[in-house]
Amino acid sequence: MNPQESSQLPQAPAERHAPIPGWLTGMGLILAFWAGAYLFLYSGGFRGDVYDPGLITWGPVSTGPVAPPDPKVIGKRLYTANCAQCHQASGLGQAGVYPPLAASEWVTGSKHRLIAILHHGIAGPIAVKGNLYNNNMPAWGDGAPVPLKDEQISAILTYIRSEWGNQAEPVSTEEVALIRATTKSRKQPWSEKELLALPSDLPPPPAATAAGK
Ligand code: HEC
Repeated sequence: MNPQESSQLPQAPAERHAPIPGWLTGMGLILAFWAGAYLFLYSGGFRGDVYDPGLITWGPVSTGPVAPPDPKVIGKRLYTANCAQCHQASGLGQAGVYPPLAASEWVTGSKHRLIAILHHGIAGPIAVKGNLYNNNMPAWGDGAPVPLKDEQISAILTYIRSEWGNQAEPVSTEEVALIRATTKSRKQPWSEKELLALPSDLPPPPAATAAGK
């Protein structure tokens, strides 16, 4: 419309900008404060690894020392996810197919052999609690379909050595790392004979590691 026409229109009510009411500003501030506090508490510090099952250090941001996660709790979770389908939650395995871990001499005995089993698996006949099995135990170390980290293997082993009535001492992450290093060139699963040929005791840690600690 042109200026003449508009001047002929009856006076329209003037548009005015009313100031934002104080209560609305107040509510906005409260909302912003709440949203900020919410993010602060529940964002996990915006870290990408908060869903890593091994990392239970997030939560309200704290500057003090964080309690280390209980390996038995993590070990049980990892056992359920990776081992229970064969060895069962009861640790009793399945007669003739999957050997038991409960009261197994391989689980409660030599740490050296037990850690070696986890890194590279087993193939062929093996006697467990007087029964013969002839199957395959998958590897969980380097090159395995589902490689586990040293701290995950140590948590699982600590769990199976102290569950179902088993009473053997825990396995440390350093011990798992040591056997990962000493068996690095290995590509094949173990036979029972090879496992029994390993010294029962863990090898001494390399001098560099001992000096570094
Ligand atoms: C796909 C099935 C399967 C899965 C999964 C599996 N195992 Fe085994 N495991 C076996 C079989 C089969 C044997 C016996 C190997 C043989 O007969 O040569 C065995 C043997 C063992 C042994 C030595 C014998 C004994 O019973 O003490 C240990 C220890 C062991 N497994 C621990 C584990 C742990 C820990 C996990 C999880 C990280 C796991 N296994 C996952 C099938 C499995």
